[in-house]
Amino acid sequence: MSAYDNVYNRSLTDPAGFWADAAQDVHWFKKWDKVLDDSRAPFYKWYAGAETNSCYNALDIHVAGGRAEQLALVYDSPVTGVVKKYTYAQLLDEVSRFAGALAGLGVEKGDRVIIYMPMVPEAAIAMLACARIGAIHSVVFGGFAAHELAIRIDDARPKAIISASCGIEVNRVIEYKPLLDHAIELAKEKPDSVVILQRPQAQASMVDGRDHDWGELMSAAKPVDCVPVAATDPLYILYTSGTTGMPKGVVRDNGGHLVALKWSMKNVYGVDAGDVYWAASDVGWVVGHSYIVYGPLFKGCTTILYEGKPVGTPDPGAFWRVISDHRVNVLFTAPTAFRAIKRDDPNGDYIRKYNLDSFRTLFLAGERCDPDTLHWAEDHLNVPVIDHWWQTETGWPIGANCMGLGMFPVKAGSCTKPVPGYDVRILDESGYEVEAGKIGSIVVKLPLPPGTLTTLWHNDDGFREAYLNHYPGYYLTADAGFKDEDGYLSIMSRTDDIINVAGHRLSTGAMEQVLAAHPDVAECAVIGVNDDLKGEVPLGTVVLQAGVERDHNEIVRELIQLVRDEIGPVASFKIAAVVKRLPKTRSGKILRGTMKKIADNTPYRMPATIDDPVILDEITEALAALGYPKEHVAA
Ligand code: COA
Ligand code: AMP
Repeated sequence: MSAYDNVYNRSLTDPAGFWADAAQDVHWFKKWDKVLDDSRAPFYKWYAGAETNSCYNALDIHVAGGRAEQLALVYDSPVTGVVKKYTYAQLLDEVSRFAGALAGLGVEKGDRVIIYMPMVPEAAIAMLACARIGAIHSVVFGGFAAHELAIRIDDARPKAIISASCGIEVNRVIEYKPLLDHAIELAKEKPDSVVILQRPQAQASMVDGRDHDWGELMSAAKPVDCVPVAATDPLYILYTSGTTGMPKGVVRDNGGHLVALKWSMKNVYGVDAGDVYWAASDVGWVVGHSYIVYGPLFKGCTTILYEGKPVGTPDPGAFWRVISDHRVNVLFTAPTAFRAIKRDDPNGDYIRKYNLDSFRTLFLAGERCDPDTLHWAEDHLNVPVIDHWWQTETGWPIGANCMGLGMFPVKAGSCTKPVPGYDVRILDESGYEVEAGKIGSIVVKLPLPPGTLTTLWHNDDGFREAYLNHYPGYYLTADAGFKDEDGYLSIMSRTDDIINVAGHRLSTGAMEQVLAAHPDVAECAVIGVNDDLKGEVPLGTVVLQAGVERDHNEIVRELIQLVRDEIGPVASFKIAAVVKRLPKTRSGKILRGTMKKIADNTPYRMPATIDDPVILDEITEALAALGYPKEHVAA
């Protein structure tokens, strides 16, 4: 048996023993009464009765343990030309002072704090400061518009919101404050305080009595110590796309998250304390939470916080420059970043300009990794390229080639094997396991391991409904895929209407809600169509209200702007068409899957229940006018 097999089997046969052992590696103010409390199953609790603090485990413990002068965080920002380095001692000082500032604003244990910030170190400082005083942070990605932010404000009801005057994209400065002010105006639940980091690129106007300047607060702030919290207390809420316009508030606890992430650093990523770890993502996504901020710091690594893109800041050598400048050992990003690099530097010429001696492993996740991208990266980088699979809900990988447990041979298109802790099964519609090689619904037998979501924020019923009711006793991943004869997992597609755009998870249902609100639109459908760079992009089809005779191009322009204004630029909604009718079943269900197949040039069978097959010809024509299917997409 391999090291992986031993560890994997024990994690399933004796989960309590396995995770009790892993928990020896972290600091507890009080040990648990029970490792796995199943008294309220299917709501499981890890480390019930224990007390800890996530910030203590990320910072204080390392300062006390001899890493005070080691770099904890390196901020590298090609868009501003700034590189700033924080040792563990310096980061602890900033965090404990900002925690003091938050406490001074009346933020207490259990209060929520929304963080709407660009990729600046203050975003990580704010997260850790919340953890220090037991406040629950909820980070909202900067590419979301005011309306999306307002939805999250109303759900989380934050005591304070922390933001910055602006974010910086490749070609423009995006003022955050007008977006934030508008979101607060839209929200029913107003925060007591707002803290604004003024950046030199834009000056935010402040609201008297409510808004505070980050710099001023910090110069007056007194550092505060860590507040012990229950292992089962929430550390953060992270909203992620669901099937409707209402995002799901994934709740992460303190104790399980701490143990699982620290365990994953060595066992999944193969890194030790002192290594340099870089997740090229954004703190607004789960990857940023787990592997820019918490995981590397729990482990005592140096983490890189990068405010830039893989290309255009300034060129496709950006990633190699960062690896070489900061002696990065492990890089984690999304395949889309590599498709962008490969597009601009097909022969990998920029790679050869830099010294990549320190670089050991590349991890890819966030979307399916196409074999072309995998092989290109392998050929040009000469390091193992590891596709691994996880979700906002799980917070850490479900399927991976665990580098700390002996690497398996890579099979392109597969994320390798289930990670210890996850009992992954592939089921058919009736709940029976399918044979090797057959596609089915991917589920995880309960209990989920520590670190995974404990519920949805103030919505236990929604948690059951979305994840647990479909197959009792199992967590529904909403991904479809198969296991091959060697036990390798391949993740093929979502089973709901979530699409993956440049590694970002978006709901077509939410976009449909926006389109349907346009006064000229009678009904609509949004599908994800294949895209060479972003993997998928949304494409909208709308049927107009009877009697609307306006120019269709003008309506399409308005629809595109509407999605940008309501959801945000991150939706990448840029293609839409007015059609006469939408294809439906006789019971009125829109045949989105068939439309997607036409757009992607995938063979399809005429659905037996289709109401009127002629409509498919009309749709085919409308898609052709938009350039779909694209010539390069294989039939
Ligand atoms: N604030 C405001 N706007 C933002 C933003 C932010 N934080 N992040 C992205 N946007 C905007 C972009 O400027 C773009 O606007 P545009 O339509 O005016 O061009 C839009 O949102 C879409 O962004 P994105 O999908 O990221 O596309 P892009 O063309 O800017 O970049 C890639 C494409 C592939 C280079 C980019 O997606 C990337 O670097 N991906 C890396 C992978 C990653 O971060 N994955 C996350 C999970 S691991
Ligand atoms: P998110 O919650 O934003 O992390 O998105 C999670 C979803 O992204 C998963 O449910 C999958 O559909 C997809 N995904 C993530 N990683 C992979 C991967 N390695 N292979 C295939 N799909 C992936």
